[in-house]
Amino acid sequence: MKNQDSILIFGSSGQIGKSLIRKLTKNNYKVIAVTRSIHRKGYQIKTQSNYGYLELEEINSFEEEKISKLMERCSVCINLIGILFENKKNHFRLIHSEVASLLSKVASKNSVGQFIHVSALGIESAKDSMYALSKLDGEKKVKENFPKAVILKPSVVYSVDDNFTTNFMSLLSILPVMPLYYSGNTKFTPIHVSDLTDIIFQIIDRKIHGETIECVGPEVLTFKEMLKIILKSINKNRLLLPIPYFLAKINAKFLELFPKPLLTIDQLKLLKYDNVVSKKYKTNYDFKMNSNRKFYDEIIKYSFNWASGGQFSKKKINKAN
Ligand SMILES: NC(=O)c1ccc[n+]([C@@H]2O[C@H](COP(=O)([O-])OP(=O)(O)OC[C@H]3O[C@@H](n4cnc5c(N)ncnc54)[C@H](OP(=O)(O)O)[C@@H]3O)[C@@H](O)[C@H]2O)c1
Repeated sequence: MKNQDSILIFGSSGQIGKSLIRKLTKNNYKVIAVTRSIHRKGYQIKTQSNYGYLELEEINSFEEEKISKLMERCSVCINLIGILFENKKNHFRLIHSEVASLLSKVASKNSVGQFIHVSALGIESAKDSMYALSKLDGEKKVKENFPKAVILKPSVVYSVDDNFTTNFMSLLSILPVMPLYYSGNTKFTPIHVSDLTDIIFQIIDRKIHGETIECVGPEVLTFKEMLKIILKSINKNRLLLPIPYFLAKINAKFLELFPKPLLTIDQLKLLKYDNVVSKKYKTNYDFKMNSNRKFYDEIIKYSFNWASGGQFSKKKINKAN
């Protein structure tokens, strides 16, 4: 039997998942959060909601029967599963395409009311990136299996819980020089995680179906501009040095040897393409789901952790222009 207000989230322990659990449960939706390891991730997920609104489920192999049992109990399913780099077990095609295909197929079989799939912005032109190709293939499979699915394509998503601003804050606070790939000219439309989860909440609440929506923040910023804003927020001056592609490639080749690489060759390829609205799809603004949070105004709320003096450095920080 379906509980009409239960929402099933795959990839719930990530940056977007945790914020989404908070948003949905605060608004009286019940959430079933799926993770591969309750032991490792359960304690982080459990703190995101009030008692009684959240159930945890562990799935570490994608067996149709197990997924089906969960889908039987839900009216909405959200797929947030994604990876930024490959390893021996997890390949882009498996995670972004085959898993997305399986979840949308099982959702359709179980007559789930809404299927929301989170893909990525700016991947159409990146024909040389495996990440982009697998994400595109995932979108195609989801549309085939669940034609009324909503596909969301966010630009870079940031918050205190991200792997983006926080990594750069760490790097910029220790490195005297920061290399700039493609002269730092690649454009982004960063969206705060809370704005993105507001959009997902609206899609559920307004029962929006069959749309592909590009999700962007209020500003277009180049990579260099974002680094400058981050530097300002942590009160540091660093040399931002454009480096030629062959040096960037050597840098990425070296970094991708690490278990959690800061940069891979595939990410370097992706960085060449602007991450802005394509005009091919509607955006969140077309649905009056405006994202108002500005990059500096949000990062300043947590960047003091990386500034000299930690929390006591707060008063030294001036507002960006
Ligand atoms: N963050 C961004 O800037 C951004 C931008 C555009 C698109 N997106 C997309 O938005 C989605 C969510 O992003 P996020 O930032 O929240 O990601 P995240 O923090 O990296 O979390 C990803 C989630 O995927 C799950 N996962 C990873 N590998 C898995 C595997 N092999 N099997 C099953 N689950 C696996 C993890 O769940 P467990 O470890 O709990 O199992 C984790 O909760 C992803 O599809 C991502 O590509 C993100």
